[in-house]
Amino acid sequence: MSTPARTGAKATVLTLQQKKERGQRISVLTAYDFPTACALDEAGVDAILVGDSLAMVVLGHETTLEVTMDEMLHHARAVSRGAKRALLVGDMPFMSYQADVAEAVRNAGRFLKEAGMDAVKLEGGRELADTVHAIVRAGIPVQGHIGLQPQSVRRQGGYRVQGRTAETARALVDDARVLEAAGCFSLVLEGVPAQVAAAITERVRVPTIGIGAGSGTDGQVLVIHDLLGLHEPPPRFVRQYARLGEEIVTAAQAYRADVEAGRFPAPEHATSMSEAEWGALTATLGPPVAHEG
Ligand code: KIV
Repeated sequence: MSTPARTGAKATVLTLQQKKERGQRISVLTAYDFPTACALDEAGVDAILVGDSLAMVVLGHETTLEVTMDEMLHHARAVSRGAKRALLVGDMPFMSYQADVAEAVRNAGRFLKEAGMDAVKLEGGRELADTVHAIVRAGIPVQGHIGLQPQSVRRQGGYRVQGRTAETARALVDDARVLEAAGCFSLVLEGVPAQVAAAITERVRVPTIGIGAGSGTDGQVLVIHDLLGLHEPPPRFVRQYARLGEEIVTAAQAYRADVEAGRFPAPEHATSMSEAEWGALTATLGPPVAHEG
């Protein structure tokens, strides 16, 4: 297993801002565990999101609604033990910030204090302006998330592209501006037409990170399980860079065949005791049990 990459300066929210200002694209991936965090850090991605997609791709839930604060923190801790360079963003789960501003600030704080995250992300538009402002005032960087909001799957009537009409697209542009004014350091734009994502990107100063939003954003984010072929089938906007799900099946089948055929473990995988100790042991043991057949 690779060890945490210790080289390279630690990325901060300013690193992302500078990349936008220099016209350099920003790469973000999700991670939920230590080995993946080590690998992504070593690969040099700018930021790692401990997404609430954890609920679906790791915990096997139907939606992201089920994952809890404690589950998110548990996985965020593992990621922060592995990634030492990338900016770490903890995704605030459903009902950890919607009901009450004070509760939102406390839960956001837990991601930094208890799990080593650098920032938090939350889903929603202008209705969250006060919440974002309060969290930022507490010293916690906030990434907004507009467009398709998986935590609002019930209200949005499924996982549907948002902002297809001039009116709904205009509402997204306005949401982006309100969130920027409230203090968001970056905005995730999910499931919106490419033109709308590009229009928002040109109208806010903070970096936009797209997913299913075309190439006109300042950066891109993907769920690592989609990219690696570990969660099938992937959404249409995903490019798969590996088929690890198939490789795991092949490896597990080979292991099973080796075990069944007695090829594993081989002598080099075993330890043996000295003849003297073995002799002393067998002198005290009764005969082996008889096996039928
Ligand atoms: O939870 C997640 O993985 C996300 C990304 C898809 C942006 O929110």
